[in-house]
Order: sequence, then structure tokens, then C-alpha cells
Amino acid sequence: MMKTQDQPNSESSDVSDVAADRVRIFDTTLRDGEQAPGFAMDRRAKLRMAHALEALGVDIIEAGFPQASPDDFAAVAEIARVVRNSTICGLARCQPGDIDTTGRALEAAHHSRIHVFLSTSPLHREHKLGMSKSQVIDTAVAAIERARGLCHEVEFSAEDALRTEPEYLAEVFSAAIAAGATTLNAPDTVGYTTPAEMAELFAYLRQHVKGAERVVFSTHCHDDLGMAVANSLAAVSAGARQVECTINGIGERAGNASLEEIVMALRVRAPHFGVGTRIDSRKLYPTSRLLTQLTGQAVPRNKAIVGDNAFAHESGIHQHGMLKHRGTYEIMRPQDVGIAETKLVLGKHSGRHALRQRLQALGHELDDSLMDGVFARFKALADKKQEIHDEDLEALALGQDPDAAG
Ligand code: KIV
Ligand code: ZN
Repeated sequence: MMKTQDQPNSESSDVSDVAADRVRIFDTTLRDGEQAPGFAMDRRAKLRMAHALEALGVDIIEAGFPQASPDDFAAVAEIARVVRNSTICGLARCQPGDIDTTGRALEAAHHSRIHVFLSTSPLHREHKLGMSKSQVIDTAVAAIERARGLCHEVEFSAEDALRTEPEYLAEVFSAAIAAGATTLNAPDTVGYTTPAEMAELFAYLRQHVKGAERVVFSTHCHDDLGMAVANSLAAVSAGARQVECTINGIGERAGNASLEEIVMALRVRAPHFGVGTRIDSRKLYPTSRLLTQLTGQAVPRNKAIVGDNAFAHESGIHQHGMLKHRGTYEIMRPQDVGIAETKLVLGKHSGRHALRQRLQALGHELDDSLMDGVFARFKALADKKQEIHDEDLEALALGQDPDAAG
């Protein structure tokens, strides 16, 4: 089926509206995330995840790399058929075979995007592609022109953009716009960049790329130096209006920028950034959990936003503060990200206030002298156990031996 960018068949999506001042969330969990060792998902798992991403409010779902395998083709085609409220995107190298396969996989999509990519950095031009600067431009232009006839919109990524000469990158992007790309992505493919450099590059591109006002600039950061989220946010501050990211930050090597962290940073610090997303943040935690179930890979306890400790407090000083005013040690409400409630974990760092509150919740109202004894026995027990559970507390309150309580 021939598609043109002038006649998209989607009335509902304003993803292609480049003028809309919001950050489009481009989720690549099912492509860049899934291609990392340990995170492969079969077709059924990808479909479940795609439904969750649609419900989350993701603007563009990169569903896979159709040329990679028959199963990936089938997964992208199935997602394109059933997901109606997100743009469905497939990745393709700048090769006719890849582009045609991706176009076929996306045929049933309500709104489709082909994402073509080609390396632009000197290192990649010489050692990976063996191409001159002008060959890279010609190859990218031919690919974009071919893809245009097969989908509603085309994204072009300059792989390793952050190690590319900025003047040359602007030249490549200008040619990509003239060829019909409407989203231009500057990936930090190897996670090498700093936030200041990122902001400088995006400011430069917006000024020097011909036709910049007609397209959406996109950022795609890897986490090799732990700066993927900071770099993505720096790009947004400098005018990027699409962020490519993944649930739980999964992705090649150290991963991609984490979707939940980007979304909550833009939300919690809304006055600072002045631009937001369409994500329903209350679905962040359930979506993160679904991914851990489908891949069998847990997130670390201390992972921002969705880790077990993100809204848990054990130390007495923090618990005391939280009991007086939750703002003392929390900058967002757990419910805002879909977590039922803050946890005051009782352990050896906990204090009397948190213990008394928990005992009251369990129905034990103790006077001060009884509380002194229970608190002393609680501390002795906490030195032996990582976490104290409700059964232990019940036993302590009733003067029983908690070890006998199991
Ligand atoms: O990291 C990268 O450069 C990529 C491209 C394919 C966008 O994943
Ligand atoms: Zn990547």
C-alpha cells in the first residue's frame, strides 16, 4: 500500500504535528531494549508489552527491526495491526531490502513510521562503512526517499551523531529534511557525551540545519557513563522534542535512558523544563513490573522511580521526618507513579516513632513504659534480622519470642 506523508490516515494522532510543544515519548524497549543480552522477548511478550506502552500513553512505539528475523517481522506486523493509539515504528538500515521489509511489516498500522539510520562519525565512516562524507549523504537521502512511499512518516538517525563533526551533521540533517524526513535523531550511540556538550549540539543544529523549523529533533542516549537521562534532559532544554528511551532503562550495554526517569523529571521539575509529556505516570510502575515479568530481569532495589527502595525509608531520622511531613524525604508521591504507598521499613536503623505507628496500625496501643521494653527488644531483634515483619512485631507486643513466630 502506498502511503504519503501528506495524507496520513490518522486523524487522532498529533505526533506528526511538529509544531506541538511537548516532548514526544518514543519508546524503544521492544527494539534497542530487547536487543540487549538477557532481554529478548518473543512475539507474545512483545505484543503484551506493546499494549501496555499504548495504555501508558507512549507516542511512538519502536516495535522492532523487521529485517532481523521472521519472528521480529511478525511481532512488528501484529503490533501494527492491533495498536491504534500510538505511532508504530520499525527500524531499517539504509538498504532497500530493509526498508521494503519494514514497510511491509507496518502496512496495517493506523499511523506508521520507518526509522532509517546510518553512521555519520569519522570513526564509523572509515572503519564500519568505508564511505566518504558524500556517500553517506547520498545513501541516507536515497533511503529516506524510498521509505517515504511506504509509511506515514520517516525518521532519520545519524548513528554516533555525538562523535560527528557538527558542521557535517548539520549538512546530513539538512539533506535528510530535503529528502522528506520529519524527525531527526542525534543518538549518543556509545554514551560518551556530557549534558553541556549535548545542549550545545542541539542548539547548534537548530540554528544551522536548513528547514529545522519544519521537523522534530530527537535525542537517543546510552548510559555507558551513567549520563543517559541527564543528557536526554539537556537535549530537551536545548529544544529536542522527542526523547527515545526504554522502560527500566534496558538497552545495549549499560542501557538506554530510562523512560520513567525522563517522564518524572519533566513532571516533578515542570517549571524548570516548561514542557511535558502525554504519559499517564500512574501506569509507570505496573509497566515496569510487566517488563520484569516478561524478561525475568529484575530492577535494582535502588532504581529511581520503580525500584523497591524508591519510596521506602528505614532510618529513624527519615522515618520521623516522613511521619511529620512526607515532603521531608520524598519529592513525589508513590501513587503518582502507580505505587500504592510509601513503605516505612522497620529495621535496625528505625526509630521509636515508626515502631509506635506500626504497632498502632496493628492494634497495639502501648504506654510509654511498655513501649520502652518493646523498643529495646525490637532493636536487639533488628540486629539479627535484615527486616522486621508484622508477625515479629505482634510477638514483641504480646511479650512473646519473635523467633518462635517464624
Ligand atoms: O544507539 C543508536 O545509535 C541506535 C540507532 C539505531 C538509533 O540505536
Ligand atoms: Zn541505541
